[in-house]
Amino acid sequence: MPNQLTISSINVVFSEDEDVTTAKDRPVRPSELEDLGVSKEFLIANEFEGKLQQTLLLSRQEEVVIALGLGDQPLTAADARATAATLWHSTKHLDSLTSSLPLSIAAELGNETALQATVEGLLLASYRFDELKGTPEAEPKLDRINLLVADGVDSETALRKAEAVASAIALSRDLVNRPGGSLSALQLADEAVSVAENTGLEIEIWDKQRLLNERCGGIIGVNAGSLEEPRLVRMTWRPKGESRGTIHFVGKGITFDTGGLNLKTFEGMKEMKIDMGGAAAVIGAMSAIAAYAPDLTVIGTCCCTDNQPSPTATKPGDVLKIRNGKTVEVLNTDAEGRLVLADGLSIAVEDQPDLIVDLATLTGACMVALGQRYAGLMGNNEAAIAKVQTAAALANERVWHLPLPNEYRKQLDSEIADIQNIGSGRFAGALVAGLFLQEFVGESPWVHLDIAGPVTTDENEAEFVKGATGFGVRTLIEIVNNW
Ligand code: BES
Ligand code: MN
Ligand code: ZN
Repeated sequence: MPNQLTISSINVVFSEDEDVTTAKDRPVRPSELEDLGVSKEFLIANEFEGKLQQTLLLSRQEEVVIALGLGDQPLTAADARATAATLWHSTKHLDSLTSSLPLSIAAELGNETALQATVEGLLLASYRFDELKGTPEAEPKLDRINLLVADGVDSETALRKAEAVASAIALSRDLVNRPGGSLSALQLADEAVSVAENTGLEIEIWDKQRLLNERCGGIIGVNAGSLEEPRLVRMTWRPKGESRGTIHFVGKGITFDTGGLNLKTFEGMKEMKIDMGGAAAVIGAMSAIAAYAPDLTVIGTCCCTDNQPSPTATKPGDVLKIRNGKTVEVLNTDAEGRLVLADGLSIAVEDQPDLIVDLATLTGACMVALGQRYAGLMGNNEAAIAKVQTAAALANERVWHLPLPNEYRKQLDSEIADIQNIGSGRFAGALVAGLFLQEFVGESPWVHLDIAGPVTTDENEAEFVKGATGFGVRTLIEIVNNW
């Protein structure tokens, strides 16, 4: 179980008070200010201007009153989450908290969205990865939170969705934060099995023998140097009634990427526990799907193994046969993500889905191009690309559309196989990887997200804490929601 505040600490209080939503001089109500003996001038003197996420603590005997800035621009759900995260950080040492945040932002966002965003922000900001600490750090004290909402708000639905999303992101963060030695492909698959048991999703796990029988030569080839078995995970949400369509998510699940015989340097290797971030996003998103119960078929496929050097490992120059029959000359064993995804995408294509989205920590080159905040987005279909862009915008996850230039395709031509796994040139590594994947999706509408950058963050900011971000979970949920 991820360590974060649980929904049981949150209590919704219905309020008939109109004053909060209509007061011009937000965020502190004039009547409250008087109670406190605080004037607007006092706030200004204390440099509290009500800017977004600004806070000012005003003590009153046993109580602490906190002024929380909401800025003067219309708030988005993402702003509300960030504001709630600020609220968490400035109050987590207290016994209990009563906040009108959901009520104050309801006029702009709508009641349910305001409540859901507030709760998500509180839960996510409290996330900690401490399962490997020998001596646990002290728990934050705050475990009673009252949130004021307008009378008649459907708080149950809002809380249920908030909990589903926050738990999905926490799960994804836990999986990414877990070191390679603590998360084998088998353990990653077991996590997906627990998700399925708790949510009622269908699940199928392919072990090594099954992967061999199913001709998944990419996954088998990457796994060849490992002492651990590979796993392919397939999770399915099937609607009760008729299905309006099929969406297939595919995740790269390299539990640790040493590079294989093309061994990485220590600098390159030390963070490679994150190389299953795509699979973590898919498993996380699938865990939240049941809470939204879409009338769509949603499938999540994760291709899981570590990538190790060994006398049995795939050697540079070896040729692998992918599930769809194409042969690949492996000229660099460190370009392994595309090999396992080739099998995953071949499988996805077989159900003729309306959309395939793959997520992968695929290339360092994408980080060079776009940095740590932006995922690279590539695809073969304008409408599919637009859908994923819209979902990402709603999710407040940054993606940037990169091209898949036909002119570069010939860099992947192999002398002895159908295709080689690295380009012949030095440049455009993210695009060449995208072009490689494109060979395995046929005519299906497909979008590729290279999440090597945003899978982690170096900063504590808004509802994000240093380490894994859970990037992708929200975008996948929004794709399903807005279909
Ligand atoms: N998992 C890495 C990509 C990566 C690098 C993710 C840094 C996150 C941070 C991937 O398997 C890899 O090694 N890619 C190579 C490809 C190259 C050999 C064509 C890379 O980016 O150097
Ligand atoms: Mn690699
Ligand atoms: Zn990798």
